Amino acid sequence: MADLGFVRNESARQLRAGRSRTLGLVVLDVANPFFTDVARGAEAVAEAKGIVVTLYNSGSDPEREHRHLELLTEQRVQGVLITPVESGARDLDDLAARGIPTVLVDRGSGRRKQCSVAVDDVLGGKLAIEHLVDRGHTQVAYVGGPAHLGQVRDRLQGAREAWAAADLPADALTWIETSALTVAEGREAGARLAGIPTSRRPAAAFCANDLVALGLLQHAISSGVRVPQDLSIVGYDDIEFAAAAAVPLTSVRQPRQLLGRTAAELVLDEATNAAHTHRQVLFTPELVARASTQG
Ligand code: RIB
Repeated sequence: MADLGFVRNESARQLRAGRSRTLGLVVLDVANPFFTDVARGAEAVAEAKGIVVTLYNSGSDPEREHRHLELLTEQRVQGVLITPVESGARDLDDLAARGIPTVLVDRGSGRRKQCSVAVDDVLGGKLAIEHLVDRGHTQVAYVGGPAHLGQVRDRLQGAREAWAAADLPADALTWIETSALTVAEGREAGARLAGIPTSRRPAAAFCANDLVALGLLQHAISSGVRVPQDLSIVGYDDIEFAAAAAVPLTSVRQPRQLLGRTAAELVLDEATNAAHTHRQVLFTPELVARASTQG
């Protein structure tokens, strides 16, 4: 084969085998290191079995997600790992109907007969708020959005439950809703926070993910707001840049690579094991305290 320079025809092999040696991984935001780490975990499992992981970015756009899933269906992939833009994505039913193994990542499967791997985001929100309340904060902002993201809603639910458990007035936990979970939106939220009259301005912020927290931190530093003295900040994910930030970021850690590994194991089991049974795996987050709240 080497002497002849023979290269196997993957299309012909796929026709015979009925499936390509590929997993599709559809993520909300390819620029978010959270998903890079999830992809690394999935790749580690898939590549050990000779399977390639192909990354698709929905950009939190349902129409782009739909186009990606149509392509993946045509390509007869071994399976699909997806963090759906909306939990009721019509395409998820289509994939199941076409017999394409699908695992929801970073989202519970609800009533669906599908596997899912996620982290308990309600508990994560509680951990963040309990940390701030323990440090004496009585005026806190929850910074994140949009509301259609399940992660944003669940983290806010946990925050509100912990706030109520501390007998603090509901209106002292304010939600600064953003249009995306990005650094730019974090900076913009910082400007909105600065515009709140001093008497009512929160001295602490729980951000729905680390990118928003890093943007908020950048705005604070550039406008002379001291962190944590004037503004304590908690993020979510504990991506690599959280610890490396100008003021190391307190964050709620998600087991990112483990999410990816587990999702890949489940989808490949469904693709190859006739006795496969669906599982909904839920991991526990942990709070990692750093300089952005210590003081
Ligand atoms: O996709 C937005 C966020 O949801 C990520 O930062 C991560 O927290 C995920 O759970």
